[in-house]
Amino acid sequence: MNKSYLSLGDFTNLLTMRTTKCLSILLFISLFVFSCSSPQKPKSYKNGIVVTAHYLASEVGNEILQKGGNAFDAAIAVQFALAVAYPRAGNIAGGGFAVIRTSKGEYNSLDFRETAPRAAYEQMYCDKKGNVNSDLSQKGHLAVGVPGTVDGMVKLHQKYGKMEWKALVAPAIKLAMNGVALSLSEANKLNDYRDQIRNQNKGKETNPYVRENLFEEGDTLINIALGRALLRIKENGRNGFYEGETADLIVSEMQKNGGMITAEDLQGYQSVWRTPVMGEYRAHKIISMPPPSSGGIALLELLYGAEQYKMNEFDFGSFEHIHLMVELERRVYADRATWLGDPDYYEVPVDRLIDEAYLENRFSDIEMDKKTNSQDIKAGTVELIESFETTHFSIADSKGNAIAVTTTLNGNYGSKVVVDGGGFFLNNEMDDFSSKPGFPNQFGLVGGEANAIKGGKRMLSSMTPTIVEKNGKLFMVLGSPGGSTIITSVFQNIINRIDFEMAPQQVVNAPRIHSQWLPDEVYVETDFPSKNVLDKLKAAGHVIKSQAKIGVMSNIFVSDSEEYIGVADTKRHADSKATGY
Ligand code: DON
Repeated sequence: MNKSYLSLGDFTNLLTMRTTKCLSILLFISLFVFSCSSPQKPKSYKNGIVVTAHYLASEVGNEILQKGGNAFDAAIAVQFALAVAYPRAGNIAGGGFAVIRTSKGEYNSLDFRETAPRAAYEQMYCDKKGNVNSDLSQKGHLAVGVPGTVDGMVKLHQKYGKMEWKALVAPAIKLAMNGVALSLSEANKLNDYRDQIRNQNKGKETNPYVRENLFEEGDTLINIALGRALLRIKENGRNGFYEGETADLIVSEMQKNGGMITAEDLQGYQSVWRTPVMGEYRAHKIISMPPPSSGGIALLELLYGAEQYKMNEFDFGSFEHIHLMVELERRVYADRATWLGDPDYYEVPVDRLIDEAYLENRFSDIEMDKKTNSQDIKAGTVELIESFETTHFSIADSKGNAIAVTTTLNGNYGSKVVVDGGGFFLNNEMDDFSSKPGFPNQFGLVGGEANAIKGGKRMLSSMTPTIVEKNGKLFMVLGSPGGSTIITSVFQNIINRIDFEMAPQQVVNAPRIHSQWLPDEVYVETDFPSKNVLDKLKAAGHVIKSQAKIGVMSNIFVSDSEEYIGVADTKRHADSKATGY
């Protein structure tokens, strides 16, 4: 029998080999753990930056900047590109808001929110007994508001654009005509909504968003009808949508299916320049969206409370941090439900709501060890849905112009109606009105008279495109989708940066929470906060619900060396991308 013996030399060699191997394994493990625990460092750019929820749209925006376009030109090109590449939220038949800071120190905001058709009325979603039928406000032709996007982009271009209009619409036409390779997320989303989209579009000759087989990642989605609709916008600007063939297609879609929008509604639509709401937070200037969005006012109220209660003295994720946020949020959302609506139809007390004396008193009953009960009114029974149908993009250019745009169809693919022959989805923004006092919408939000339905009126929004300055210089550009959770996501990103002094990627990656008065619950992202803190929150009376994702940020930060750092929220939405030059 052969026996093998190890010589001393062999033994030493083996030992060395094993030690080296062990060390390499240890090194590998530590590198792996490090790379998982420390967020990757985002790239910084000197000349311009674009952050959107879809890589193709980010690339379109970056190309426009590199061709000499300013941030506003890039925003127009991105808005149209998203309508093709990201149809669940990108749109030509939805609406949105833009908050602007120019290199000359001007602040502005553009309201291209949809309006209720003229024939709309307060009880339109109620049956004879006064019960609301949410299906009507959320799906199909009656859910559609008069679209604002195209007029908004035209006004943005007229006031701030530098490049030719046609050059800004052209990239989207190319995407529609040549086709877009579907990402995994987009293929899955279209498959998830296949039945709903099919149900709302029976009998139409072509519908690019539904086909015999399920969509797969990498499939090319060509949309010739949308390409043509975009071509009309390219050639004729506003009239290419609100008049002529596209308007005819929308009106005929409405007439055949019991919708309300008329040719006069389309011709009469106007987006509106509004003075942004502005405030100070710990020596930073906050510039955000005024009504008909509740976003800016709610954000300023929250920040006021965070300063009053010295948020910066708490640890991130501690009981005090989370309890304080929740208590502030519950009060602010109660204000939202009562006081906010379209300022052209309801006297919104903007100045009073963000007045120091009011806010000091508003938060004075917060107790730092226990929850205050929400008023005893019928709580929303709607579950908070994990929904990222809206989309936000942030852009800044070499001159210091910056724009934050949040744009939406409301639900995923809006009303699910694709305009026959137009190839684009119509919004279901009417659901953002309060269909009946105290009756929750799809986000569980309640409202009353201020946000009651009326022909021509704009429905209240939570979209919160926001710009932050420090010492007169650009500091952050940010925003998010997420319905009611938009405001609280933006709020947390600002305090993460200013109070908890997090690095840009951490600001965005950090877990978030959300509370909105009614339903009387606190939503927390998975595995957050620690068990110990969760137990304390429960002991203080909070009802906790777990939520996989809250918000999807598209943020720009400005470094001390004045470079742009773009952070896409790829942790929550893989297709997001920051790119610049
Ligand atoms: O304007 C609003 O507040 C809503 N229509 C936004 C919808 C939304 O964010 C959906 N999902 N992410």
